Amino acid sequence: MKTERLTAADVERAAEILRRGGLLGIPTETVYGLGANGLDEEAVARIFAAKGRPQDNPLILHIPSADWLERYCEAVPAAYTLAERFWPGPLTMILARKPAVPDAVTAGLDTVGMRCPAHPLCRAIIAAAGVPVAAPSGNTSGRPSPTSMADMLEDMEGKIDGIVDGGPCAVGVESTILDLTEQPPRLLRPGGVTLEELRAVLGEVAVDPAVTRLMGEGERPRAPGMKYRHYAPKAPVTVVKGDAAATAAYIQSRLKAGEGVVCFDEFAGLYAGHQVERLGPADDKAAQARNVFDALRAFDGTGVTAIWSQCPDEAGLGLAVSNRLGKAAGFHIIDLTGSRRRSGENGV
Ligand code: TXA
Ligand code: MG
Repeated sequence: MKTERLTAADVERAAEILRRGGLLGIPTETVYGLGANGLDEEAVARIFAAKGRPQDNPLILHIPSADWLERYCEAVPAAYTLAERFWPGPLTMILARKPAVPDAVTAGLDTVGMRCPAHPLCRAIIAAAGVPVAAPSGNTSGRPSPTSMADMLEDMEGKIDGIVDGGPCAVGVESTILDLTEQPPRLLRPGGVTLEELRAVLGEVAVDPAVTRLMGEGERPRAPGMKYRHYAPKAPVTVVKGDAAATAAYIQSRLKAGEGVVCFDEFAGLYAGHQVERLGPADDKAAQARNVFDALRAFDGTGVTAIWSQCPDEAGLGLAVSNRLGKAAGFHIIDLTGSRRRSGENGV
């Protein structure tokens, strides 16, 4: 199939693709999504086929405003409080589903992820379509999420009906996922809305162990997608945590010919002769979030044999950046702080 390129002038055309059961590349403030009519089981099945996504991995439903919540889920009072504070924006809430949501979306779970994205073009398209849009990130399953139209076309050219160019994504990592079906609410995936911001509104928030470590044999993360190797370039990744200057020097001392580096801008000069991808300044986690997936994608097709990466601390947006780097590394992490804490005890 030919993938139609659309722009902000084509909201009606984009909405029509969704309404008639097609697949649409859709910009959001986090990453580009692979959208389809969330009430159309066949359209939703096409999402799984285009991505090569495991059938047990549920999709998020995107809605244009919080007043659509009650159509699709049992929205508890905290959901409205959070919507008031963080929507439209990068927060997905897991809530008990209503029968209107097809099994194809929830992978048979009795809960559904609900999100109201902030990108104005995305909301205009969903509102014009008049249906909730089921949309995972627009990458082939296992690859880094796309943060531009060009990234998404790398994976999806010829597999989707159209893609809307909404420019580069402002946040750059996927939405924060919060499970509101348990008490205290549980962070399943860190993202653009930080754990600190959630705790400021809700008080206690638990952190799912899958956020900071690999799941062991027989363990099941609450977000099924968190169990898959993810965001991974083809070469193996090692993440080095700790003081920025110390981790930069550590990587420099271990780096072999043919290996690549993901580093903070300040240290890019240390690795002459190697492929170097910049995360952004060491003290600018928002920039790091915007750059992390592009940095990982940049190594594919380059023949680099291994990748070393610096990593921010876990405060604020750092938790999301370090989670994505950790997942790309299969949580192969060297911690130079000497206080490698076991997750669940690490205060996050
Ligand atoms: O920012 C985002 O959330 C992007 C954009 C396109 O909105 N979407 C996105 O979707 O990242 P996806 O499918 O790539 O990641 C959704 C994650 C998966 O790990 C999935 O397992 C989890 O959310 N998830 C979806 N529904 C769930 C549910 N009912 N219970 C637990 N986890 C759920
Ligand atoms: Mg994804």
